[in-house]
Amino acid sequence: MRAPLIPAALVLVAGGCAAWRLWGEIPVPAGPPAPSGSADVPRAPDERRKAALFYSDLGPDAVDVSSYPAEHRRGYEVYARLCSRCHTLARSVNAPYVDRTWWEFYLASMRMRAHFHGEPLPKKEIRAVLDFLEYDSRERKLAQAPRFEAITKELRLRFESALDERMEQLQKDPLPHRPR
Ligand code: HEC
Repeated sequence: MRAPLIPAALVLVAGGCAAWRLWGEIPVPAGPPAPSGSADVPRAPDERRKAALFYSDLGPDAVDVSSYPAEHRRGYEVYARLCSRCHTLARSVNAPYVDRTWWEFYLASMRMRAHFHGEPLPKKEIRAVLDFLEYDSRERKLAQAPRFEAITKELRLRFESALDERMEQLQKDPLPHRPR
C-alpha cells in the first residue's frame, strides 16, 4: 500500500521546486532599498556576455574569502575547482540561492550531470562545497542583502541587454553556424 506514495511524493517535490523557481527567484529577505547605481560590478568579458544562460553568469566569478575562517577558505578551493568545470563560478557566486536545503537540492542535480559526464563529484568534497556555500550565502548574500540585491538588479539589466544584442546579431546573421 505504501508504494504509490513514492511517485506521488516525487511529483510533489518536483512540482514544489518548479513553483519555487517560477514564483520567487530571489529568496533573499528584503533589506532597506539599495541606492540606485550602488552596484559597482565589473563588466563581464565579451565571451561570457555572448554565452550567458543566466544573469548570474555575468557577475564576478570569484569570492574574496580573505576574511573567512580557515575551514571555509579551504572549502572555497574545493568549490572553485569543482564548480567551474562546466560553467564559470559566476553562475553560483551570483545565484539568488541562500538556503542550505536549496543548495543540497541543486548540488544533487549537478552531481547527476557530472556523473553522466564521466567526472563524478565525490560526496566528501560536495559536503565541503555545501558547508562553504551555506557560510558564504549567509555572509555575502544575507548579511549584506541590500548590496547583493543591487548587484542582482544590475546583472539582470545587463543580461537583458546582452540578450537584445544577441537577438540583433541573430537577425543580421540568422544561421551563422550552418554550413552552406
Ligand atoms: C557536469 C557539469 C556541471 C558541473 C560539474 C556543475 N554544473 Fe552547475 N550547471 C550545469 C548546467 C548544464 C547548468 C544549466 C542547466 C541547469 O540549470 O540544470 C547548470 C546550472 C547551475 C546553476 C543555475 C541553476 C538555476 O536554475 O538558477 C547553479 C547555481 C549551478 N549550476 C551551480 C553549480 C555548483 C555550485 C557546482 C559545483 C558543485 C556546479 N554547478 C557544477 C552543469 C554543471
